Amino acid sequence: MNSFDIKTKIYFGDQALDRLAEIPYERILLITDPFMAESSMFSLVTDPLKKGGKQFEVFKDVVPDPPIEKISLGVDKMLAYKPDAIVAVGGGSAIDSSKSIREFALRVNNYGDVGLIAIPTTSGTGSEVTSFAVVTDPKEQVKYPLVSRSLTPDEAILDAELVKSVPPAITADTGMDVFTHALEACVSINRNDFSTALAEKAIEICGVFLLRAYLDGNDSHARQKMHSASCLAGLAFNSASLGLNHGMAHQLGATFHIPHGRANAMLLPHIIEFNSDINKHSKSRAEYLPAVKRYATVAQILGLSSYNEIMTVRSLVNWVQFMLKEMDIPLSISQMGKITKEEYFAAIDRMADAALADGCTETNPRVPRKADVVKIYEKLW
Ligand SMILES: NC(=O)c1ccc[n+]([C@@H]2O[C@H](COP(=O)([O-])OP(=O)(O)OC[C@H]3O[C@@H](n4cnc5c(N)ncnc54)[C@H](O)[C@@H]3O)[C@@H](O)[C@H]2O)c1
Ligand SMILES: [Fe+2]
Repeated sequence: MNSFDIKTKIYFGDQALDRLAEIPYERILLITDPFMAESSMFSLVTDPLKKGGKQFEVFKDVVPDPPIEKISLGVDKMLAYKPDAIVAVGGGSAIDSSKSIREFALRVNNYGDVGLIAIPTTSGTGSEVTSFAVVTDPKEQVKYPLVSRSLTPDEAILDAELVKSVPPAITADTGMDVFTHALEACVSINRNDFSTALAEKAIEICGVFLLRAYLDGNDSHARQKMHSASCLAGLAFNSASLGLNHGMAHQLGATFHIPHGRANAMLLPHIIEFNSDINKHSKSRAEYLPAVKRYATVAQILGLSSYNEIMTVRSLVNWVQFMLKEMDIPLSISQMGKITKEEYFAAIDRMADAALADGCTETNPRVPRKADVVKIYEKLW
């Protein structure tokens, strides 16, 4: 038996942030990062809270790839202030920090129900509607995806005004994260008709609007569309889960601090090739791996098609590489110029073990062996 539901109520469109004046909570802890706390945009969030007569305090110690010690600072803050709701404002890092802070604080002192409202300021993770929170253990250099329904926000507010300030490089990285969520959801062994419908719409939007948003951050229509796509892809993978691409990307983030979306984007061509085995020329149609058909469907949604399914999947790989080049995302680790060959290769064995143990890898359409993962990390160099 399978089931599908959406726990989070989603507010979107013009004046969506007005919802903050009406929320059924009075004492709010705002959790954000220093950039957002100091940005003039932050008043778009605090003004409606003031209008609604809400009390609030701000915790602004969120950093990218939230490490355990910052989360524990937030737990201290929450237990001292005892809010009846948390409002998370920021990218995936702020939203995941908020989820973890609420979860851990209430385990220490379960003083009552605490609401969680997520307001994304990147069009990327979809964390505003998912039961996932990714935390980093810097000592062990591992990122752990925590998964629990109790982590899911109660409300999400999508206002693309908050995304206009995202610089092109982060638009590119986070946009490719959206695409990777949708693609992994489409080929996951847990996919279902509901998750696929959401993922396919997200893919269609990425195909039309990601490059537009990258080229002109003030293109409101493109920004709004990518903000929806991010949420749709989040709903899709919340049901279907992800795959090896995320399992491997988490280790690149934890070990070398490569931004999450960028790590996903760089891995994508290699993972599509692995999952569909498209480099084996001699295969007959009957021998195609199951993912081939689904990747070919995605390619068709993007307007790519060729004379057979394998060639269509190849055109999908080419499309991803084209997007990377157009958006100035490096195609290889060596091209990044920041990581030495020695340190990268020295980390591969440990990263491969961690990628295989990562919860996202479980739903990959092709079961990887350690040698496969090592080979993909090597090819990525
Ligand atoms: N929970 C989930 O379902 C899920 C899914 C995918 C990824 N993640 C996690 O989310 C994190 C990545 O989140 P992210 O990609 O949104 O990036 P992020 O939250 O780490 O932010 C990246 C940078 O963008 C800046 N930024 C955010 N909003 C901005 C704005 N409006 N204008 C200008 N700059 C802005 C931030 O200050 C930061 O410097 C990773 O830890 C990743 O593992 C979680
Ligand atoms: Fe992601």
